[in-house]
Amino acid sequence: MHSNVAGGTPRAAGAVRVDAGAPVLTLQSISLSFGGVTALDGIDLAVAKGEIRAIIGPNGAGKSSLLNVVSGLYRPGRGVVQLGSERFRHVPTARLAAVGVARTFQNLALFKGLSVLDNVMMGLVHCRRAGFVRQILSTPQARREEAKARAAAEEAITFLHLGAVKHQLAGGLPYGILKRVELARALVARPRLLLLDEPLAGVTLGEKRDLAAHVRNARDAYDTTIVLIEHDIGVVMGLSDRIAVLDYGRKIADGSPDEVRSDQAVIDAYLGVAHEGETELVI
Ligand SMILES: Nc1ncnc2c1ncn2[C@@H]1O[C@H](COP(=O)(O)OP(=O)(O)OP(=O)(O)O)[C@@H](O)[C@H]1O
Ligand SMILES: [Mg+2]
Repeated sequence: MHSNVAGGTPRAAGAVRVDAGAPVLTLQSISLSFGGVTALDGIDLAVAKGEIRAIIGPNGAGKSSLLNVVSGLYRPGRGVVQLGSERFRHVPTARLAAVGVARTFQNLALFKGLSVLDNVMMGLVHCRRAGFVRQILSTPQARREEAKARAAAEEAITFLHLGAVKHQLAGGLPYGILKRVELARALVARPRLLLLDEPLAGVTLGEKRDLAAHVRNARDAYDTTIVLIEHDIGVVMGLSDRIAVLDYGRKIADGSPDEVRSDQAVIDAYLGVAHEGETELVI
């Protein structure tokens, strides 16, 4: 859980290559309950190709639940998730990589006992065809795949400036670096859709600025579409092309940063006075 941190960020600067064609992700009437708690209540969302779409809202608003529905961890009680041309009642987690989706988690999900390089290579584990036995026997197919995976991981590591720590165990590294390792692991398979749950939370202001720049550069360099959850309004306003606002499981606004910033329902539910005078951080 994180409060709305003051301080700001990156503007979705310059040319935004948002594609007006078919959305990469469409949600139709998604509802989800846990016992008596309604986590999501009739959510519609369309995310265009090349977009950076932020999901914001108070703690418990349903933001992580929404990403968990898109990545198949949760099965919605109602509604449809469309990824590209495929429509799902329940997104199959086993096919997530095949449908071009990768994600990071609000609480890091890395293997502490593995090196940075091996953690990043784990991002390709679902894409590799040679089974376990072939990998153990080191057949030519398994060796080719291993070399390809290593090359892709090295590329992601270089992209995220992790070269100096690539042979270190993840367990010993600072939180800000681990956030970058998670991003590298999500990027390595070149997903069409990247879901980031609080990728900038819990790091210093300087690291936050770097991470925000990495997220924006990742969209361009990896030609992907990004849905991210973030509490720092300055970051969100600067980094996102569009912002959807959740409150008590409902979407109360969806628009450009300027539209959302001046939306009275959003101000009442979330922005309040806490963000008055907050400036955007320029990356
Ligand atoms: N696995 C679960 N079991 C029971 N309740 C859950 C579960 N996951 C989420 N919830 C409930 O659903 C609601 C939405 O939670 P969610 O984690 O999606 O919120 P969030 O917007 O991500 O909040 P935060 O900003 O604190 O991360 C909350 O009331 C939460 O307690
Ligand atoms: Mg959350």
